[in-house]
Order: sequence, then structure tokens, then C-alpha cells
Amino acid sequence: MSHDLSQMRPRRFSPSGPLRGRIRVPGDKSISHRSLMFGALAVGETRVTGLLEGEDVMATAAALRAMGATILRQAQDDRSGAEWRIHGVGVGGLLQPEAPLDMGNSGTSTRLLMGLVASHPITARFVGDASLSKRPMGRVTQPLSRMGAEFDGTTLPLTERGLCPSIPIEYRLPVASAQVKSAVLLAGLNTAGITSVIEPVPTRDHTERMLKGFGADLWVEEQDGAKGPERVIRLRGEAELKPQQIEVPGDPSSAAFFAVAALVVPGSELTIENVGLNLTRAGLFEVLRQMGGHIEELNRREVGGEPVADLLVRHSALKGIEVDPALAPSMIDEFPILFVAASLAEGITTASGLDELRVKESDRLATMAAALTGAGARIEEREDGLVIEGTGGEPLRGSANSRTKTHLDHRIAMSMAVAGLASRDGVEVDDTRPIATSFPAFEALLDGLAE
Ligand code: S3P
Repeated sequence: MSHDLSQMRPRRFSPSGPLRGRIRVPGDKSISHRSLMFGALAVGETRVTGLLEGEDVMATAAALRAMGATILRQAQDDRSGAEWRIHGVGVGGLLQPEAPLDMGNSGTSTRLLMGLVASHPITARFVGDASLSKRPMGRVTQPLSRMGAEFDGTTLPLTERGLCPSIPIEYRLPVASAQVKSAVLLAGLNTAGITSVIEPVPTRDHTERMLKGFGADLWVEEQDGAKGPERVIRLRGEAELKPQQIEVPGDPSSAAFFAVAALVVPGSELTIENVGLNLTRAGLFEVLRQMGGHIEELNRREVGGEPVADLLVRHSALKGIEVDPALAPSMIDEFPILFVAASLAEGITTASGLDELRVKESDRLATMAAALTGAGARIEEREDGLVIEGTGGEPLRGSANSRTKTHLDHRIAMSMAVAGLASRDGVEVDDTRPIATSFPAFEALLDGLAE
């Protein structure tokens, strides 16, 4: 995606009446990427329903096709959406792609696929958009180099040459990152011996859960670390993955925008169906409850091996809090929308320990500080977080004459759309195109509710 002004799609999000009714958010992005990747490595046919059909996941599908997997979309008549069928090549069977792999805006596609390529005897070139090309890849090239892969750079575009047989390693994560953890484990799938990742701070565990489901010999140990117990994930390569039937639960990171919208727009009462509530992902809902938000979990059940519930969210008077930094990994993608909630709460919210937000699709501390300040919020930007003084429930001023810069970041665009609903003059975002990377139906769902 380009910064070319003539192609950007600006939009004003205006103050809204109550949000009422029931909605369903699309499938989980992390689980969708992994369903395609593991299906592509299993021998036989994997079937997936509820797959997120956003641009990021489609970038993963295109790359896997370019490396030999067959991935087909089959429309269904009922309301469950399409079924995806994947015929895998088997672990070790990925083929040399003929053209560069276009990762678009997707860090997850890039880092996880680099892991897969690392232990195959193939060379792949990775390219991406302006946002992705600024993001650090050294965090994966470093451990993957120890396994034998070679890279000609640490930012995109870059070329990776995999090695087979590759070398098993034990790797201690220097940053709390599920993408880095997953890159090493995925390289370990085609590496003889045991590949281990030591995780001092737990991050989303979809890779571990799903690889076990696909039949990999993977286990998790606990050990004492310098700062308390740490998880050690061990995987025995050369794994044989068996095809699965997967139902992808709704994405809590997408539900987050509507949950906050319902909390901050007076008179709202909204049910968000089928939301994944894996403990390594559900931190935002916990924090919103600590702020006084009314969020009920109805109809708790399991979908695709993950805890799921329908969330009933009512407009609530929110109070500022100090956000526990230990919760950050379980809500790492939700800080932009939490900052919107905090801007409308009573009192001060402090969030710290968030250096990782500076290397997401944009620098989310700087981008949100500028965007919310432009909409009339009171924000202090710190090195590793934000301090926000809320309006106490009064609408934000909004921005009559200026455009919010979203820097090719889908979550900034959706967060500021929600800020616009709870503002006096509305909020104009400079470009809504990136929303399609993770939540193509976002605007249609919002417009449907606000009617
Ligand atoms: C993801 C991990 C997180 C998250 C991203 C998806 C994943 O990134 O921000 O949206 O699917 O593994 P980091 O591992 O860089 O924290």
C-alpha cells in the first residue's frame, strides 16, 4: 500500500447514537495464519471455517501457494461463511518460490514464513509495503541464522536462504513476541532433534496449541528464571503433521473496537458473538472491567480448542486506572483502542512498559498520542507508554478541520473511528484502506449499527 495521497481513502467518522443489537466479528487473525501454514505442511486435506479473509491472511495464502501448497476457497450456503481446503506438501516439502513473496502489511506472515523457509533448502525474497519495510526483522533473522539460514538484511526487502539439514537451537526470547517464538518453532518443524524456546513472559500460545493439535511432538516445561517461572517450549523435529478440521473463533482484537464503542457511546447495549477468550489474548476485557466497564461473558464454550463466549457490553462510566504492565502481552494489539477508552474515562490512566508498541504497524505510542491530542484528548507521551487524562464521559472535541494520520496502521484507523463516534465534531482519518488487512467488514458493521 502506498502513501500516495491520491490513492488514500479518507473518511469522517461522526458522532453516533447508541449501538444496539448483535454482531459477529471475523475470524482470529493469528489462528487464521497458522491454520493455513500448518495445513500447508500437513499431508492430506485440512479444512478451515471462519478463516479471516483479510489482506494479511491472504498474503500468507498466496505465499504458501507460491511454495507448492494448494489452497482453495469453497463458498457455503449457510451463515458459517466459506470453507477453505488446504492440501499440504508435508514438512520439508516447500518448494522454491519463483517470484518475491509479497507480504503486504503483514508482520505475522513475514516472520512466521521466514521461520518455515529457514529449514527448507530454498531461497525466498520477502517484500512488503512502506510500513512493513520499516519493521525490525533482526529479531527473527538472528535466531534463524543460528539454525543455519542466511539473510542479506534485517529489514524488508530481504532475501533468505534456508538450510537443510538445519541446526536445532535453544533460544531465549529477548523480547516478548509470539512471532519470534513461532518463527523458531516453525523452523524447528523440519529440523532433526529438539528445538526449544524459553519464554520469560508468556505470549499468545496459538502456535503451541495448534501444532499439538496437528500431531507435532511439542511440550511445555516450567523452569525457574531470574525473574520468576518461565515457560520452555520444546518441539521434536522432523515433525509429521496430520490434516485437521479447524473452526476459527472470532478475533478478540477485532471485537475490542466494538466493545469500547459500546462502552463509550451512551445508551449502547451490544452483544458481540463468538469472541475468542484465550487467556493470552483477553487482557483488554480485564482492564476495561477494572475501569468499570460492563462486559458480561455469555454462553461460554470451546471453539476450535479455544475458550469462546458472546460478550454483552453496556455503556458504562469508565474510571482511569494504572494498567498492570504484566497484562501487556495479553493485549498487545489493543492499546490503541484502550487509549480511546481512557480518553473518555474519568481521571488518569497510566500505561507503561510498552516499548514494543513503537515497532508495530506504526509507532503506536506516537501515532495515538498525536491522533488523540488532535481530537481534543489530554495525553502525555512517555518513552514506554502514555498518561491520559480523560474527559469523564464528556464527548471528545473531535477535529473539524484536520485529518488524523494513521501511518498505514489498521488499528489506528479503527481506534480513531471509534473516537469519532464519541466526539462532538467527528474525527476524520486520512486513510481507511489499511482496515482491510485485518477487518474488511469493519465499516459496514459500524454503519449498520449506527443507522
Ligand atoms: C502475533 C503476535 C503479536 C501481535 C500480532 C500477531 C501473532 O506480534 O502484535 O498482531 O500472530 O503471533 P509480536 O509477536 O511482534 O508481539
